[in-house]
Amino acid sequence: MQRKPGGSEDGEGPGSLQHPFFARALAGAVGGMDRRGAAGHRGRILAGLQGSVIEIGAGAGSSFPLYPPAVTRVLALEPDDYLRNVAQEAAAAASVPVTVVAAAAEHIPAETGSADAVVSSLVLCSVKDQAAVLAEIRRVLRPGGTLAYYEHVRSGHPAVARAEDVLTPLWGRFMGGCHLNRDTLAAITAAGFTVQDNQRFGFAVQRLNPPIAHILGTATSPGHAG
Ligand SMILES: C[S@@+](CC[C@H](N)C(=O)[O-])C[C@H]1O[C@@H](n2cnc3c(N)ncnc32)[C@H](O)[C@@H]1O
Repeated sequence: MQRKPGGSEDGEGPGSLQHPFFARALAGAVGGMDRRGAAGHRGRILAGLQGSVIEIGAGAGSSFPLYPPAVTRVLALEPDDYLRNVAQEAAAAASVPVTVVAAAAEHIPAETGSADAVVSSLVLCSVKDQAAVLAEIRRVLRPGGTLAYYEHVRSGHPAVARAEDVLTPLWGRFMGGCHLNRDTLAAITAAGFTVQDNQRFGFAVQRLNPPIAHILGTATSPGHAG
């Protein structure tokens, strides 16, 4: 990870979240991943959204073409400079208005209670502190607002989960801080969200990779914790 000026006090501003190698690899690989099924997964969490939406860690903007017309605007956060440029091109071609900004999910540039929905697609694996990010998502969502999530998660098989624990420190160094071993559904629930629907399934992100556990669904926010 490269650091440059622009990080916030907790080190989680956009300036501290540059992953040049991973960013280029992701931008090159995400089309194939989408063709293998990820686009369908994204589409499932976006289909029911409406109103004002915030997408954290938008990456190359792969979700932008999939937003339904009921979404009136999308504020897309992407801290990595390379991916943000790619996402800006995708935003220009989107059928709903999308604004891409340099920001981290730890400090979402939006008023408390202002969003109808927040989208996290393969991001809660990478943030440093899931609880802090989920609290920030809860802050910006209106009471009853939706967290729409699509994430890879810790395996339900103890031996595989142990292997994920061992691999994660090295994996994260090359894969933008990604953790293979997080129980993200438990974190969403612990943050106070009510899960409305959740699907768990195996999905091979790359062609020759083994399937790994994923979840997707929606959860309702009780509103800002205060
Ligand atoms: C695996 S990529 C997923 C990209 C995209 N959401 C997708 O579904 O293709 C993870 C993304 O999270 C971003 N990211 C990492 N840490 C972040 C943070 N603290 N706040 C916001 N985005 C972050 C990365 O820059 C990257 O774009």
